Amino acid sequence: MVYITRKVDFCASHRLYNPEFTDEKNDRIYGRCNNPNGHGHNYELEVTLRGSVDPETGMVMDLKALKTLLVQEIIDKVDHKNLNVDVDFLAGVIPTAENIVVSFWQILEKRLPRNCELHEMKLWESADNMAYYRGEGAELARHGELAASAATGK
Ligand code: NI
Repeated sequence: MVYITRKVDFCASHRLYNPEFTDEKNDRIYGRCNNPNGHGHNYELEVTLRGSVDPETGMVMDLKALKTLLVQEIIDKVDHKNLNVDVDFLAGVIPTAENIVVSFWQILEKRLPRNCELHEMKLWESADNMAYYRGEGAELARHGELAASAATGK
């Protein structure tokens, strides 16, 4: 088993709040991250796969192909977007680094070649803050009107 990692980055804005909380409670929990008009981050995503080395190519997966997959399936959908309203798969999800990285995992795990699987995804929100996920059964809670409209497809 060999592990390979590809890094990609994107810029996006978000606001952290739960529509089921009062304004006062959102303020207390999220502080400045609850700014009504949002704020931005330069995110870095590190994706690590594990798998067998193909004896013919010497690779687990072509890292260029992994980058293309990441750009098509994830980066193009979140780069320069408002994560609260522009991204279908985050509808109604509080866009913390924790929730974002789990949503990315759920997208990517279905699209990898058969000889490899996801090992870890790390999402750096800033130089100091990072969430990582290894596929251990996290669930995404959805809240509010966006969650309801995503569920009914309207
Ligand atoms: Ni933030």
